[in-house]
Amino acid sequence: MKGRAGSDSGRQGAESTTKAVGAAGGAPPRAVADRHARRVIDALARLRCTRPLASTPAAGDPASLRRAYLDLLKLTICDLIGPTTLTVLPTPDGGVLSRELRGELKQIRAIGMDWPYNGISMGGLMRLDDLDRCIETIANERVPGDLIEAGVWRGGAALFMRAALAAHGIEGDRVVVVADSFKGFRRDKGEPSAGRSAGLEGMLREIEYLAVSAAEVRENFARFGYTEGFEFIEGFFEETLPRLKGSRRWALIRLDGDTYTATRTGLEALYDDLVEGGFVIIDDYGWVEECRAAVEEFRAARGIEDRIEWVDWTCVRWRKGSGPGREPVRPPDLPLEDAVEQLGELQGVVNPRYGLELAPTPRIPTAREAELTLSLESAQAELAGMRERTHALNAELTGLRERLGELEQRCQKYEGALGRRITRRLRRAASLVLRHVR
Ligand SMILES: C[S@@+](CC[C@H](N)C(=O)[O-])C[C@H]1O[C@@H](n2cnc3c(N)ncnc32)[C@H](O)[C@@H]1O
Repeated sequence: MKGRAGSDSGRQGAESTTKAVGAAGGAPPRAVADRHARRVIDALARLRCTRPLASTPAAGDPASLRRAYLDLLKLTICDLIGPTTLTVLPTPDGGVLSRELRGELKQIRAIGMDWPYNGISMGGLMRLDDLDRCIETIANERVPGDLIEAGVWRGGAALFMRAALAAHGIEGDRVVVVADSFKGFRRDKGEPSAGRSAGLEGMLREIEYLAVSAAEVRENFARFGYTEGFEFIEGFFEETLPRLKGSRRWALIRLDGDTYTATRTGLEALYDDLVEGGFVIIDDYGWVEECRAAVEEFRAARGIEDRIEWVDWTCVRWRKGSGPGREPVRPPDLPLEDAVEQLGELQGVVNPRYGLELAPTPRIPTAREAELTLSLESAQAELAGMRERTHALNAELTGLRERLGELEQRCQKYEGALGRRITRRLRRAASLVLRHVR
């Protein structure tokens, strides 16, 4: 599963973890970290999924203003506006750890391979670019229907849909449906999630960072000026999505619930109402095997042959009625196995204690970090004092042991001498008694 995480409650200071990931230690040596950073950059380049981190400049005409607005929005949603960005990566021991990314390493965030610390979509720029193109097509070809994202997290991709409808002037009576548990992954062990998705859900539900409330998502929308034109559907998909069946037409369905169950439930409940020419987007098809299985099984069961197109290294989409095509290939013609190998290369530089091994960048510490540094220093001073005291006590103990040894030796000597004296006297007394008796 690709790295991802989020929510206010789960946020920590940069370069910190939710779990203690090796309390002591420090960052890897710079040479090792630099070597690992190089491997990350090379693996990203081989994935051929990099994307320039730039917006389109505005010009006076409406079309270029729209383009500039949407491009700027994508950079903002992904938190790629500034010179650095903060990324969050799960550590192999089940914790999460945040890192500052700068320079070429910002591509990790740009291609949606990590979880953003401040960004409001995990998807990255290429997936937003594609969403942009889909909505442009919906506008140009007047594809009717609402749009839905099932699995929204902080809501960035759904917000982008809403903004793109407005920018193309086609929001009209369309809504963007925002569906999520708003509590993260299923925590209960009951059916149907206990089946194919149990392992992945079991892992993800423990990550508090993935649970973002509906109120937080609404706030995210409101910051961009959108307070209407969407509908929140709150609850687990297994309960909520089947109720939507037959209730409306869809122009675009975006499924990002990661697991087999979330994906299959979404397809079963929504696909029949997708109009001809409408789009279905599956965020985790490449990377999450069970998600891919849900899609393949659904397509096989329904005899769907519409061509699957790769959006980036993991996300795919197809257009209803587009007809059969070649075997799915990613846009840069990178076979899935090669992509997985490159991702394996990235995994190879993940250290169980520190996550992605990158050199620490010079940065202003957070108040929490400063506070922790102070408590660490005072704990270290206390520890040093205790060590000294232990040392002195040990020395005293050794002295006492030596003294005890000496006393024991003297005792033994004394006991020996005393014993001999008593024995002599007893013998003498015995001979006196014997003489007397005779
Ligand atoms: C990977 S995140 C979505 C990322 C989001 N699309 C974005 O652009 O950042 C997965 C989301 O699916 C939700 N989710 C997972 N399983 C679910 C289920 N069975 N029912 C409802 N929501 C679920 C989680 O709460 C989480 O918000």
